[in-house]
Amino acid sequence: MLGNFSYHNPTKLYFGEDSLGNLKTELSNYGNNILFVYGGGSIKKSGLYDEIIAILNDCGKNVAEVSGVMPNPTTEKLYEGINIAREHKTDFILAVGGGSVCDYSKAVSVSIHCDDDPWEKYFIRFEEPICEIVPVGCVLTMAGTGSEMNGGSVITNHEAKLKIGHVFGDDVMPKFSILNPRYTMTLPKYQMCAGIYDIFNHICEQYFSGEDDNTSDYISEGLMKSLIHASRIAVKNPQDYEARSNIMWTATWALNTLVSRGKSEDWMVHMLGQAVGAYTDATHGMTLAAVSLPYYRYIMPYGLKKFSRFATGVWGISAEGKSDEQLASEGLSAMESWMKEIGLVMKISELGATEDMIEGIADATFILNGGYKVLDHDEVVQILKASM
Ligand code: NZQ
Ligand code: ZN
Repeated sequence: MLGNFSYHNPTKLYFGEDSLGNLKTELSNYGNNILFVYGGGSIKKSGLYDEIIAILNDCGKNVAEVSGVMPNPTTEKLYEGINIAREHKTDFILAVGGGSVCDYSKAVSVSIHCDDDPWEKYFIRFEEPICEIVPVGCVLTMAGTGSEMNGGSVITNHEAKLKIGHVFGDDVMPKFSILNPRYTMTLPKYQMCAGIYDIFNHICEQYFSGEDDNTSDYISEGLMKSLIHASRIAVKNPQDYEARSNIMWTATWALNTLVSRGKSEDWMVHMLGQAVGAYTDATHGMTLAAVSLPYYRYIMPYGLKKFSRFATGVWGISAEGKSDEQLASEGLSAMESWMKEIGLVMKISELGATEDMIEGIADATFILNGGYKVLDHDEVVQILKASM
């Protein structure tokens, strides 16, 4: 049965090849001092940087830049951005990049007018912002995280060996996001595939929990089928606009708060993957891919009904003459074949994890209780070892 919930998503989306044309009008709603945030240089290579600067100049905005936001943005980088934002008396943050740039901009937005240490306040104590929040807008260049239409912000603290996400509320979600699938076409294949698996796993995290006959499950199955189909086309031909646009749109719906309404959620693959990320700084989507099958095979007996449904509903496997166990494990085998077909990393050892890190990674894994089996420390170790 669906639980009680409210649903409201304040982010306005502009989608398609002409979507950047809306930036000027959107910016006219905000003050003059813009903080332009971007990553390690891909937008300079693609020419998007010049286009954005031209629009900002055309609007007469006063611009400061934070460049070099790295994949898996760090606490040090966060402090740097907060200082620049304060000096600039920032009215609005324009994030141009992937999930890291978008997440980072949200973390800066809730910290500019806050006296507390942001890492401690938001990522350790999980407090909500009570200060003024500087609005954020996003021009997305990578499909994956859903950060363009959610309140999530994930920050890595290398000293503490922790990678932690805070899901902020409506006030922190981007005011608008510009989604042009063409921008994603300059992504290296490795990043494209990591993004595809991130999307897939966001859906899994919300699908593999609960026993209800739930509208969310049907939405999830549709999203997964569309993604699998588009991923196969995009891997063969990354320039296929239709496939790239379907991937980008699926990414947004996979994690913009709709699918999870009224139902329980798992998120243990993300907890395992983030802990691996804290130790290796590996690409987010690949950390998820590498721990997924050992985790799902371990919990499968506890959620057999849903894993069987996954086999028939997502992978089109016939149930005829099969036990639930057989069907469920055939579903996971089909998923494994697809993962290998699109070139995902299937082992954490290939991401830099070593045997002597296993205990530490297990300690850094937050145990959640929304899935089919609440893991204990030994089970986490066992799953990590199976992921090596
Ligand atoms: O920094 P640049 O030079 O732009 O290069 C980036 C980066 O190296 C490159 N890239 C992005 N767009 C490109 C491009 N290269 C060429 N052409 C383009 N169009 O791709 C690399 C990865 O970018 P990044 O932003 O790190 O990837 P992603 O979008 O996967 O974001 C990952 C971060 O988001 C967090 C992850 O933990 C990780 O820190 N997540 C955020 C979530 C959320 N907000 O809800 C949920 C997710 O589960 C995830 O945890
Ligand atoms: Zn993710």
